[in-house]
Amino acid sequence: MLKNIRNDFPLLSSTNRAKPLVYLDSAATTQKPRQVIDAVSSFYESNNANVHRGIYQLSEQATKSYENVRKSVADFIGTADPRSIIFTSGTTESINLVAYAWGRKNLKPRDEILITEMEHHSNIVPWQLTTRETGANLRYIPILKNGTLDLSDPEKYFTKKTKLVSIIHQSNVFGTINPVKQIIDYAKSVGAITIVDAAQSVPHANINVEELGCDFLAFSGHKMLAPTGIGVLYGKTKILEEMIPFLGGGEMISSVSMESATWNEIPYKFEAGTPKIAQVIGLGAAIEYLNKIGMDDVQKHGQDLLKYALISLSNIPELTIYGDSTNRGAVISFNVDNVHPHDLAQFLDQDGIAVRAGHHCAQPIMTKLGLSSTTRASFYLYNTKKEIDALCESIVKTKNIFSI
Ligand code: ALA
Repeated sequence: MLKNIRNDFPLLSSTNRAKPLVYLDSAATTQKPRQVIDAVSSFYESNNANVHRGIYQLSEQATKSYENVRKSVADFIGTADPRSIIFTSGTTESINLVAYAWGRKNLKPRDEILITEMEHHSNIVPWQLTTRETGANLRYIPILKNGTLDLSDPEKYFTKKTKLVSIIHQSNVFGTINPVKQIIDYAKSVGAITIVDAAQSVPHANINVEELGCDFLAFSGHKMLAPTGIGVLYGKTKILEEMIPFLGGGEMISSVSMESATWNEIPYKFEAGTPKIAQVIGLGAAIEYLNKIGMDDVQKHGQDLLKYALISLSNIPELTIYGDSTNRGAVISFNVDNVHPHDLAQFLDQDGIAVRAGHHCAQPIMTKLGLSSTTRASFYLYNTKKEIDALCESIVKTKNIFSI
């Protein structure tokens, strides 16, 4: 049990529908600790200036703080080179950046982009757009009924036509943790570039890009205690250097004439315009907070809650849990017979419990498994077993109402 954590999160002691808030939707976004909120306010109160531009102390300080966070992020995901860290608005923008700035330059008709049927829309739609522009084809590694990937026939999917492989690390629907290292090795064996969508994994476990060996890795700050509007794209420096820019504007240039422009060095080539300075400061505070607890303890707490919730929910009759991967994160999707997931979420809300219901921005996987929607509970470092008990009690109560 992580002690004294909840007091750091002002919103967790508030109410929802006049009941104590039970927040079980951290896979959508996490609550923010006082330390992050204070870091952002304090930046605006005493250090606000634009970065990389001002020849005055305030701007120099802001630049230093901003660049220090780049170093913390690099350290957090296990890379020595901060130039490989690009600040984006979130995972979605990070993946779109690669699709545009690597995909458009490098993909040709009949090349193949390989993703999985388990992807979030943010790792599907950018590739659909890329195939329209380049003539490349989009292929999917299939998913099995138990919510894991079917990797029984890799030669069928990893071929000499495969140029890019982009995979979700942990499913936001079923919590399945995919064998990304194995997939990256398959991709490497055919010379393909690899991207890991780590939106649901970086917040919950020690992730080391050097160990994984991926070319790119994307994640969002708001799912790991930081503000919304800030995310990260990690990329191998050699590949980033060879890529075309994504957005054009200030800061990403080296020089501009009436006719053309040359590009700044990485990572600035990919950070056009005034960056998300306050959000980056907030991300730095979030990483400091997580480091203080230790990612091993964060992961252990998530796994303890997951095990407890899986047992508690399985004891409820007529409740189906989806996905039975043995390697999974702290996310559970389920349905209750004869209760629509939206109704269930609304009844839980009446008891102060916040969960997500719907297709979870992953319609292909839902369609494949014959589901239109599920209810999803997700847990983070501030959740407790007592909250899982409250969830189960409220589910049983709702089930009884619907069976009358
Ligand atoms: N991708 C987020 C989720 O799964 C929004 O809820």
